[in-house]
Amino acid sequence: MVSINDVIKGDFEGKKAQIRGWIYRIRSSGGIVFAVVRDASGIIQVTVKKGNVVNEEFEEASKTLIESSVITEGRVVKDDRAPGGFEIQATKFEIVGKADVFPITKDKSEEFLLDNRHLWLRSRKLTNVMKVKASVLKAAREWFDKNDFYEMTPPLITTNACEGGGTLFDFDYFGREAYLSQSAQMYLEALIYSFDKVWSITPSFRAEKSRTRRHITEYWHLESEEAWVDNEGNMKTQENLIGHICKKVATEREEELKFLGRDVEDLKKIKPPFKRMSYDDASDLLQKKGYDFEWGDDLGAKEEREMTINEKIPLFIINYPKEVKAFYMKENLDDSRTYLCSDLLAPEGYGEIVGGSEREDDHDKLLERLKAENVDLKYYQWYLDLRKYGSVPHSGFGLGIERLVTWICKLDHIRDATPFPRTITRVYP
Ligand code: 4AD
Ligand code: MG
Repeated sequence: MVSINDVIKGDFEGKKAQIRGWIYRIRSSGGIVFAVVRDASGIIQVTVKKGNVVNEEFEEASKTLIESSVITEGRVVKDDRAPGGFEIQATKFEIVGKADVFPITKDKSEEFLLDNRHLWLRSRKLTNVMKVKASVLKAAREWFDKNDFYEMTPPLITTNACEGGGTLFDFDYFGREAYLSQSAQMYLEALIYSFDKVWSITPSFRAEKSRTRRHITEYWHLESEEAWVDNEGNMKTQENLIGHICKKVATEREEELKFLGRDVEDLKKIKPPFKRMSYDDASDLLQKKGYDFEWGDDLGAKEEREMTINEKIPLFIINYPKEVKAFYMKENLDDSRTYLCSDLLAPEGYGEIVGGSEREDDHDKLLERLKAENVDLKYYQWYLDLRKYGSVPHSGFGLGIERLVTWICKLDHIRDATPFPRTITRVYP
């Protein structure tokens, strides 16, 4: 049994090969059945000729519908008309699982495709996206490993609202209120005291009440935290990590990216350093361009699009006003209205893919902020403790994997960057 890709590479020309997979297209004409079979590695044409296989197999093949599973064997022959340039002339064509009429046809609505996501995942588009995503995850792990970060496993059930109460999923935890994690950050902060540099990849949950192209309620969150690192060092970590991911994905997934409309040359240009622009300058620029924007406003999708539509590489916006960012960030001593923080915006209009900051390491300042947040302080005692026992300057960030994949794969909507998207209106299938 060999993979279709091995056959397409030419390793089996003139020889016998056995493959297994699913029927992608099938038609018959005058005693020959032409089937295109796919497996995880690719597609290949198989011709089933009356007389070359046992009669029952030929009869079966002429009636078989797409998405049936099949094991087939035959001689590999070069044929420029076939997709991939080779075909298998079957001497065996065994249907393993006969398919009913496949419900997905060309002109189905987006809703229908989402209801049938478990089947639509077989499409080449989604298959290619998920392959790119797997490579992104592999590249990230590789980078952290090479740079001496320890991978951590923070909890997903928590009593802390890291990113504010507005998007928390709460639930009954044996009679107490608990939340699904929005971020591993606070736990990673606790871990730097023994590991210096840590990272994790976990699901994060956001009860986003808005329907947008870039929000899902459950996403994969890559987070990093480093002791002794300031906001500038934190941005260096981000750009080096993302540079590595783009380089790796460009070499490993060239075919898939091409199918999705992404030229790998674009990704090869994603090298540090990325541009940095202050929030102040961004604010001036947006005003000059006629946006209804005042200093103190947050950048939304529209503004981020404007900032990046003509960019080819990601852009850091730094030092946002305090009122639009979270309580744990460190104050900017040069302008106390702002924090030492950064958002990294993907180019071509895609917008925010990473949020990061230096953290407030002073116990009393942090306590003041927490009081202003109106949270139940007893749940934050442990977090305040971190500032009591050997506090250090430290910084970290969170990268939304699906946001990164949306940009890399040039997708219109974040839901296609994850196999089973969860949104405000969808938890099925
Ligand atoms: O900017 P956010 O909210 O920052 C944090 O959670 C920090 N505590 C992270 C840290 O410093 N450790 O989220 C980080 C990233 C965003 O930049 C975005 O890429 C992604 O998470 N993200 C979402 N992705 C998809 N759907 C959503 N609803 C998302 N919300 C945030
Ligand atoms: Mg953010």
